[in-house]
Amino acid sequence: MQGPGKTQRMAHAALVTVRAPPNVKPGTMIGDKYRVEREIGRGGFGVVVRAMHLTLDQRVAIKVLTEGEGTTEVEWAEDAARFRREAKATAALRSEHVVRVLDVDVLESGYPYIVMEYLEGKTLHDLTYTSPVPLPVEDVVDYGIQVLAALADAHAAGIVHRDLKPANVFLSTGIGGAPLVKVLDFGVSKMLAASSQRLTRTGAVVGTLAYMAPEQMLDAKRVDGRADLWSLGLVLYEALARAHPFGAHTAGPKVVTSILTEPIPPVRSYRPDVPPALEAVLARMLEKPADLRFGSAAEAAAALAPFSSPRSRPVLDEIRRAPPPSGHAAPGFVSARGAPPSAAASPSGRTKGAARSRPMSPLVGFLLAFVIAALVLGLVAAFVFYVQPRLAETNAVAPSPAPETAASAPAPALSAVSVAPATRPPPDASERTPAPAASSPSRASSPANPCDPPFVYDPKTNVKRYKTECL
Ligand SMILES: Nc1ncnc2c1ncn2[C@@H]1O[C@H](COP(=O)(O)OP(=O)(O)OP(=O)(O)O)[C@@H](O)[C@H]1O
Ligand SMILES: [Mg+2]
Repeated sequence: MQGPGKTQRMAHAALVTVRAPPNVKPGTMIGDKYRVEREIGRGGFGVVVRAMHLTLDQRVAIKVLTEGEGTTEVEWAEDAARFRREAKATAALRSEHVVRVLDVDVLESGYPYIVMEYLEGKTLHDLTYTSPVPLPVEDVVDYGIQVLAALADAHAAGIVHRDLKPANVFLSTGIGGAPLVKVLDFGVSKMLAASSQRLTRTGAVVGTLAYMAPEQMLDAKRVDGRADLWSLGLVLYEALARAHPFGAHTAGPKVVTSILTEPIPPVRSYRPDVPPALEAVLARMLEKPADLRFGSAAEAAAALAPFSSPRSRPVLDEIRRAPPPSGHAAPGFVSARGAPPSAAASPSGRTKGAARSRPMSPLVGFLLAFVIAALVLGLVAAFVFYVQPRLAETNAVAPSPAPETAASAPAPALSAVSVAPATRPPPDASERTPAPAASSPSRASSPANPCDPPFVYDPKTNVKRYKTECL
């Protein structure tokens, strides 16, 4: 069990919590089940350790998320809730190219942690910069296609990675010794960062900015899967060029401005052996407006396929079989889960990405049906209880207004011809004429009034013909 080590003190009025760093020394128990063996590495969001699941005797990797420095108690609580939600969604992903999430929980000291399958191998970042020769073009394309398989699975589930970069593309070995790419840290940035403001407040993620799509920099909450396609474009570019076009490692305001405004130099300026058509595919992934990129991971994979090795065929088949992206709004893509549609919804009417609407949830469908039924019932009730009685009243009263009111009666009541309702038996004129009120002096004082009634009724034609002199 993680030792108590809970040194929380409230700093100034904003109730910012200061916590002791998590204890992840070798031998420490995490969650009663996992014994830490050694630290593997540290990144922007936390520390990763290798540990042993004591019951199953299985090696695991545990990432303890420490991105909590300088956050308030409320933010910590929000983080914990979001963390569990996102981790649950990520754990549901089934692609073998997504690192398997086995468990999530929170240390006694308050830090959330994720238990993952333990991987042997190295990251694409390490491979790119430690390889004695530039990586073969075909290999890089194969890695890219495996990443796209992970993205296709995640995007179908409405999950956007948001932090794809060479250090999160892990190269392990599959059955038969072929390279097996596993994408790390799916949804981790969303687990912890509610807003871009918090993302940038924690300077640790500055390096990540170098792979962030322009629209994600402008509004981190309104991104869709096309932001991941941008990041993958840069990952592949860097793996080929052995350089980030804007200097990933000199992160700062400069890289942000460059990504937002500067053109990306053609990858062939670094690697002349990259075919021009592949350069065009990467350029499309790196279009600054999201609308101009591929509409889905499947589209990008189809475009990369001609440059891949035969090893990629089963992966390409897997991508083709993946359900379409969900939770996205533009052709091919919509906004990230729970977020409003991307501002980049396509005005260009792209033809490659067929428009796909998010399937309506049963609850929304039920509510919609309920509202429509209520509206229809309301209209029927209004007609039965309000409109119909008014119509009947008009038919009954309008033709025979009291003489003193006839002059001021509205035009329809004074029309020259009025047809009695066909459904009703032709009423007797006197029956249709309201009984003279005892208090009506005009009626009482003029029994021979030619305008009483003001019409002549013809029972054969069921027509009342108003006397013009009475109008
Ligand atoms: N499941 C895993 N198995 C083996 N090693 C892992 C696993 N997950 C992460 N690692 C390794 O742990 C180290 C730290 O990873 P971490 O994700 O914290 O750093 P990062 O990717 O550089 O930064 P960020 O926090 O922005 O993702 C990296 O070397 C990474 O390859
Ligand atoms: Mg990582």
